[in-house]
Amino acid sequence: MDNKPKELRLILLLFGGTGDLAKRKLYPSLFNLFKKGYLQEHFAVIGTARKDLDDDKFQELVRESIANNGDEGQVKSFAAHFHYTHHDVTDLKDYSKLKDLLNKYNEEYDAQGNRIFYMSVAPRFFGQIAEAIKSEGLMSDDGYNRLMVEKPFGTSYETAEKLQKQLESGFSDNQIFRIDHYLGKEMVQNIPAIRFGNPLIDATWNKDYIKNIQVTLAEKLGVEERAGYYNTAGALLDMIQNHTFQIVGWLAMEKPASFSDKDIRAAKNAAFSKLKIYDEEGVKNNFVRGQYGKGREVWQKAYTEEPDVPSDSKNDTYVAGRLQFDTDRWQGVPFYVRTGKRLSEKQTRVDIVYKKSAFDFGEFNQDKLEEPVLSILIDPVGRIEFSLNGKDVTTEFQTRSDLLSWQVSDKDKELTPDPYERMFHDAMNGDGSNFADWTGVSISWKFVDQIAKTWDEDKAPLETYESATMGPVAADRLLAETGDRWIYRG
Ligand code: NDP
Ligand code: BG6
Repeated sequence: MDNKPKELRLILLLFGGTGDLAKRKLYPSLFNLFKKGYLQEHFAVIGTARKDLDDDKFQELVRESIANNGDEGQVKSFAAHFHYTHHDVTDLKDYSKLKDLLNKYNEEYDAQGNRIFYMSVAPRFFGQIAEAIKSEGLMSDDGYNRLMVEKPFGTSYETAEKLQKQLESGFSDNQIFRIDHYLGKEMVQNIPAIRFGNPLIDATWNKDYIKNIQVTLAEKLGVEERAGYYNTAGALLDMIQNHTFQIVGWLAMEKPASFSDKDIRAAKNAAFSKLKIYDEEGVKNNFVRGQYGKGREVWQKAYTEEPDVPSDSKNDTYVAGRLQFDTDRWQGVPFYVRTGKRLSEKQTRVDIVYKKSAFDFGEFNQDKLEEPVLSILIDPVGRIEFSLNGKDVTTEFQTRSDLLSWQVSDKDKELTPDPYERMFHDAMNGDGSNFADWTGVSISWKFVDQIAKTWDEDKAPLETYESATMGPVAADRLLAETGDRWIYRG
């Protein structure tokens, strides 16, 4: 079979071409696609922002952002595909020159009318840009038109729905690629492989065998310099509504009819539509919020002492909760989720806790059987662990828990594309499997809105936790109520 990469043809119109994300993530990812041969002669990037730059200066900025990733010749020939125009996204008149440039470069690079519009600007601009793309005739008639949208997608169901309507004015849902970089992570994409690629796991992926599922997105870092944004979002909006939900989607979904993006989305949505949305009482009983206090080290300041954080802030830097799906597959199986800043370790992982065997091995094995656990470690190391019961080396017959473990090798790591590289590649191929779709996003907002409302009205306690621990004890109590415990303890 011919494994040569298929060259992709397109013009990428990038709003926010001078921004932090573009420099740190987007240009290096595009460069990787260039080095691998997916992008060759027939692509161009038009970068826009308000700053006054010409093509030379813009290409210099691009070269600087990828300088350490390739040899000088490659860097230079890649950067030559980049063009710049000064543009203010709020000024409708300013869009006609973008139309002319798109047409010009489409001819010059023979891009066959394929266009990707990437919005790497502040979220408040997303809606008006999408509307202007349509109204000012920026879309091509003879190739594809796709829109890549950065996060966050709204700040509530109401604002997300308004944004969705604006995007829909020009783009259908299969043309909209809502970015959630967690969906681009290798080990997140490994979840369906592990689940559907192994009949023994697939067949037991249900309430008859699984006791509970745990999703942990723990961060060691604190708020850093992002208080302006983070103090209005909190962990609930920053990590639960999007990344955590997207991981839960892969875990809770039904088996898709095929591995196409359409069927994957349909299967995830079937599960999301059965998520129990809590009322105020439900929020109080099923969710815990926390905020980090001081740690033992001098530099581990309390959240309210961090730069630009108001000293009376009640923002959540930690969230733990229980999700429940009213489906035949998951009836009675809690999905526990948690995320927090300034925890003891950076660790993103999924733990599938299986039910304990009821088999009686006799008097010497009383209470020795454990719940088997399948763990999928996503970041910073990729690993699959399976702890299961085996025989202990004793004279009497006793069991013990043994751990099987496989870790992503350094070689595999080297070959693993960065999430942004993968998301670009998928969007260029029109594959929406690893992007958030509107049905799922809308349900996650409806769910999260209820929690935010209860917390905003101060109807649930704000727990504090010591920095560099695994969060408030209330989160342990949440699981203990139903006879469960967090598998990962930091
Ligand atoms: P920056 O503030 O670094 O960049 C914003 C870009 O938008 C700049 O190029 C800026 O250039 C341009 N811009 C601002 N106002 C206008 C305007 N009126 N018209 C045209 N261009 C404008 O933001 P980031 O790069 O950090 O973030 C971009 C998007 O990516 C946001 O939606 C963010 O939420 C998302 N994101 C960012 C991440 C990151 O790590 N940075 C991570 C995940 C998501 P100029 O001022 O010259 O106009
Ligand atoms: C971002 C959040 O979306 O994800 C950050 O805004 C968070 O607050 C980051 O730190 C975590 O991403 P990763 O890939 O480092 O786990």
